[in-house]
Amino acid sequence: MNSLSSAPVGPLLDRLFAEADAATSPAIRSFTSEERAALTTSKTQYLDLYTRLKDLWLPVSRETGELLYMLVRATGARTVVEFGTSFGISALYIAAALRDNGGGRLISSEFEKSKIDRAQQNLEEAGLADLVEIRAGDAMQTLRYDLPESIDLLLLDGAKALYADIFELVAPRLRTGALILADDAEMCPEYLNCIRASKENYLSLPIAEDIELSMKLS
Ligand SMILES: C[S@@+](CC[C@H](N)C(=O)[O-])C[C@H]1O[C@@H](n2cnc3c(N)ncnc32)[C@H](O)[C@@H]1O
Repeated sequence: MNSLSSAPVGPLLDRLFAEADAATSPAIRSFTSEERAALTTSKTQYLDLYTRLKDLWLPVSRETGELLYMLVRATGARTVVEFGTSFGISALYIAAALRDNGGGRLISSEFEKSKIDRAQQNLEEAGLADLVEIRAGDAMQTLRYDLPESIDLLLLDGAKALYADIFELVAPRLRTGALILADDAEMCPEYLNCIRASKENYLSLPIAEDIELSMKLS
């Protein structure tokens, strides 16, 4: 018996992915592709971009969710940090794995209030809310302080322009052997350059289509 494939988490994820697929955003049609590209790469306009996209769930894929579950289980992780909660789909995979590891703590981060409320509701429905703290506000501030002494896994899934900055905030607390999973990594050249250049400290590989998986060596 595991938390991921049994009730309440398994059926809840099926329902949430269906809802995420059906969600539409009038705002997305108002962007030109140039405007969207500019906003995605901006280090100052990311709050504007994600506020306008607040109706979209933008979740990890099921495969990425299952990979997160596997990585947390396989490493016996107890402390995980997530950049970008949205409606909590990736948080459900991570928290289910922490539960099956015997307990732990996920610190997640989201600035959009309506998303935080819904993610909290989803985690409560899954019976996993006791494992997750969602820090409300810009992760550039909320992940700057009060992180656990030792972090086992970091998920980067918020504003693409900030991956390198959030990584720098969390990196001093990553334990040797810690994993970093960056979703949509091809949109984050600054982060890829930074993690791939740190060859003495990190081993880093592109996997699947859009994930960079890295491990802290020492
Ligand atoms: C791709 S979605 C995250 C999807 C989520 N991991 C999941 O699988 O359900 C990115 C989220 O990050 C949030 N976000 C972006 N930049 C942020 C920042 N600087 N601080 C906090 N949240 C941020 C957005 O509001 C959005 O909800």
